[in-house]
Amino acid sequence: MSKCCINPSILSADFVNLEAELQRISAADAVHVDVMDNHFVPNLTIGLPVVERIQQVSALPLDAHLMIADVDRWAPLYAEAGLASVTFHVEASTAPIKLARDLRERGAKAGMALRPATPVEPYLDMLPELDMLLIMTVEPGFGGQKFLDVTLPKIRRAAEAVRGSGLPLAIQVDGGISPETIERAAEAGANVFVAGSAVYGAGDPNDAIRKLRAAAEAAV
Ligand code: DX5
Ligand code: ZN
Repeated sequence: MSKCCINPSILSADFVNLEAELQRISAADAVHVDVMDNHFVPNLTIGLPVVERIQQVSALPLDAHLMIADVDRWAPLYAEAGLASVTFHVEASTAPIKLARDLRERGAKAGMALRPATPVEPYLDMLPELDMLLIMTVEPGFGGQKFLDVTLPKIRRAAEAVRGSGLPLAIQVDGGISPETIERAAEAGANVFVAGSAVYGAGDPNDAIRKLRAAAEAAV
């Protein structure tokens, strides 16, 4: 397995003090930025101008998770802003292959996300176009939800397909990741873990990150 990454979601951070909140997660591998538009998901967060500022001040690479409609138009702008990784939902994209290529052309890693009930099988031929598959482990829209164990077989099948392909794809999981659930996700084959409430809800976010990483590594 490739190195296991913990990407805290700033959805659970204090949006009025983002720069200070970023400094509290220096032990993380990347910063997970949840962009929501109240169309693709029933919640509204931040958009391109704020993400561009986060990109300018962050010491860590940014991992954007775009939960937005019209993503074929918007996602390339996040890549142009210099983000390390840009993930779009396949359910929101009209031309996911073209979009993945657009992202890579602009220097970003291309991630594709699947809602919990979206099967992975129809997209396996697309793996060479991607750097990361994000398997949602809650319905996208809100932090603090309960991990959906029903997604574990899909994580396992996706991980098997990635191993079989020999491609260096990351398998990211997002939603309900905690010290209690991270081992199950890691054992199923995930290697990049997003955690919002489990990191920012802890007294010491960096300590929470280290414990999550240790639990994930111990599980594989
Ligand atoms: C949910 C977001 C997640 C969320 C995770 O739609 O994509 O990144 O912030 O939060 P927790 O870890 O609290 O489930
Ligand atoms: Zn997310």
